[in-house]
Amino acid sequence: MATDLYRKELMGKLSRGLMVSVPLMTVVAMAGLSSVSVNGLGLIPSAEAAQGEAEGEAKGEAQGEAEAKGEGEAEGEAEGEAEGGGTSEAMKEAVRRPEGYEPYDGDPDSLAEKGKALFSDTSLSSNGLSCATCHTGEAGYAETFENDYPHSVAMAKSDFGMDEVHLDEMVQICMVAPMAAEPLDWQSEELAALTEYMRIEQEKFRSN
Ligand code: HEC
Repeated sequence: MATDLYRKELMGKLSRGLMVSVPLMTVVAMAGLSSVSVNGLGLIPSAEAAQGEAEGEAKGEAQGEAEAKGEGEAEGEAEGEAEGGGTSEAMKEAVRRPEGYEPYDGDPDSLAEKGKALFSDTSLSSNGLSCATCHTGEAGYAETFENDYPHSVAMAKSDFGMDEVHLDEMVQICMVAPMAAEPLDWQSEELAALTEYMRIEQEKFRSN
């Protein structure tokens, strides 16, 4: 299953190359994510194959724009990543709360304020996106965002094999998948800040 992550990273990189409008970018990201569960990626033996797949999807979903702008970049990066192998399992592990996890303990108000700033910070991602690119206002969330954590989230299930996620795990999943970045340090103030801000966003989401 090492290819899952390549594909997500490819999709992230493709969307970076695209610089398309938010809805289309979300479609590309969603297409990359949801197809993982559908076609059994364990069967794809190499990054080359994964790359072919990603290109195929991008062509279909982004109506040729991905093809024109994304291919060259995706090709080079896929080859480099192929040598690492096994990244996917590591990433699946990395988005799960570690054993004996104790979150950073800070003042909720100042965490929320820092979280708000981080939410629009494109330097958190490797592809030029910020959380706010996809999640301004009510956008980009499924209905499940209404539920108390931990709860089941489609992306977490299909791409990370998690039946349920805590809110901080969901932050990490969006860091790794759509943002194509490393997960945040579990002890960090940044993770606590984004998690607190998301908690407030969830309250708003519920009340609308
Ligand atoms: C490229 C678009 C994209 C970006 C960027 C993105 N997300 Fe998401 N996010 C999604 C999608 C798609 C879902 C819906 C997943 C699902 O329901 O399967 C989602 C869902 C969520 C949820 C709600 C999950 C639930 O239903 O309980 C949270 C919380 C979240 N994202 C936080 C973040 C944070 C924090 C960031 C920045 C670190 C971020 N997202 C960046 C696409 C994105």
